[in-house]
Amino acid sequence: MSPIRGYVFDAYGTLFDVHSVVEAGRVITGDPVALSTMWRQKQLEYTWLRALMGTYADFWVVTEAALRYTIGRLGLTASEAQVRQLMEAYLSLACFPEVKAALRQLAGRPRAVLSNGAPSMLAAAVTASGLTALLEHVISVDRVKTYKPSPLVYALGPETLGVSAGELLFVSSNGWDVAGAKAFGYQVVWCNRTGAPEEELGVRPDLVIDSLEKIPR
Ligand code: LAC
Repeated sequence: MSPIRGYVFDAYGTLFDVHSVVEAGRVITGDPVALSTMWRQKQLEYTWLRALMGTYADFWVVTEAALRYTIGRLGLTASEAQVRQLMEAYLSLACFPEVKAALRQLAGRPRAVLSNGAPSMLAAAVTASGLTALLEHVISVDRVKTYKPSPLVYALGPETLGVSAGELLFVSSNGWDVAGAKAFGYQVVWCNRTGAPEEELGVRPDLVIDSLEKIPR
């Protein structure tokens, strides 16, 4: 790998553990994993559809729409208070256990988050997980009103950090995000937390790790 002058992280599933979102699902279903799996898939699908349709709505809106669809699709019922309770799980996420140590090791070069999350969602999660002092930048797609994997989004990294994409290391646990960042021109590390196969999208990560503590410096 070439020299690295800064780090750009994906948020959900990479820094933030969405397990508490799964747990929150127990209030409306005995199978919270099925709920959260479809909710996440639909959330991503809606970002891609809205990006293609040119009808951006922020990630909070998209996430709630995906939740309501999923409740309907699975034949569940939820009161408005329960929908709010599920949505609020997104605001109080914990980070994965190794995140703080991993970010500390990388101090000295800029560390940024680049995420689909709406600015208010990211601010809440960064605060809740205690990462404020460990990140120099928190960048939301909201600045360009579209979603990953649009190049317009990935361009926010080099633009904000003042470093070219080829000198930045992009870190994500989402295989499709890895492909998007690599296609844009970043050096890319895939944190494969679940032992998933690589996406078949014609681009490959520069490195695969299973914990953020293994990020090269
Ligand atoms: C994000 C989603 C893709 O944080 O995990 O951008």
